[in-house]
Formats: sequence, C-alpha cells, structure tokens
Amino acid sequence: MKKLIVLIGMMGSGKTTVGSALSKKLGFDFVDIDNEIEKQEKMTVSAIFNEFGEQYFRRLEKEKTLFFANKTNMVLSLGGGGFEDEETQKLLKKNGIVFYLKATPQCLFERIKTSIHRPLLRKNFSVDTIAFILKKRSANYEKAKFIIDTCDKTPDEVCDKILRYLK
Ligand code: S3P
Repeated sequence: MKKLIVLIGMMGSGKTTVGSALSKKLGFDFVDIDNEIEKQEKMTVSAIFNEFGEQYFRRLEKEKTLFFANKTNMVLSLGGGGFEDEETQKLLKKNGIVFYLKATPQCLFERIKTSIHRPLLRKNFSVDTIAFILKKRSANYEKAKFIIDTCDKTPDEVCDKILRYLK
C-alpha cells in the first residue's frame, strides 16, 4: 500500500532525525519542509524570518506542505509550526498518517539548547518560552493519528515504534 507518513511536533522533537532514519527503513523518499524552503529560497529559515518576517515564512511553508501533501511513499517532516494551518491539517490527515512526536518543554530545551538557528527561540530561549509555544500548539498536535512520547526514547526507538504502528 502506498503511504504518506507525516511527522509533526515541536522544534527538537526529532522530526528530521527520525524522519530520515524512517524513510531509509521504509525505502521511501524523505522530505523536510524547512529544507525544501531553504533550497527554493536559497536562504536559511532564520534569514527568511529576519528579512521578510514570520508571516511570509508561513506562506512559503503552507505552499510547500500542500505541494507534498498528495505524494506517496514519502516521509514528510514539518517545521514546528507547520501543522497550525487548518487546510494543511485537513489535507495531511486525509492523505497521510500523521504522527506527533511529543516531548516535554524540559526535554526539548535540553535537546535544542546548543542550536542557535531557531528564530522563534532566539530572543527568549528558556523552558518557559518553549512551554508557552507548546501550550498554544498542543491541541493541533494532538489531532495526529498517533502520539509518540519521545523523551525516554532514542531516535531509533521512535522509528521502531512508528514502524510497529504502521504494520
Ligand atoms: C518553527 C520551527 C522550525 C522552523 C521555523 C519555525 C516553529 O522547524 O520551521 O524556525 O514555528 O516551531 P523545526 O521544528 O524543524 O526546528
């Protein structure tokens, strides 16, 4: 059966690492939306936020996601805010199997504290800021078909859990 696997969750939830490993195990293509936007715009996500603002980035993000939403045999990894849009949610839920890679603010903080490329966290980087963003997004993330707690798992273990759900 042809499948579109969609990974959603906060920055640091492991979408890219897990997505890439999962695609190899399944023999599927792997697409990371942030990556696709950077290739198209020839700019980093951070530079796009800086020069054109968040709204502009969200438009590009939606366009790219909708473009890939009807592909099959693909693992699609969204940016942390990529599942906020209602049209995107509906289409991905209709065409794909959506997995929410869940993690606590503390666990996300530990994972991303050394990365400086995340524009939303550059100004006020703390567990509280992550908790604030997560609280706003949780209801949308929880629309996923499957929710996987990632804090106590390695990327490989998350990958195996997804594979078990897919059987
Ligand atoms: C964002 C998450 C980032 C990237 C952008 C905005 C967000 O992706 O899309 O910086 O709004 O949470 P990752 O979740 O892959 O870090």
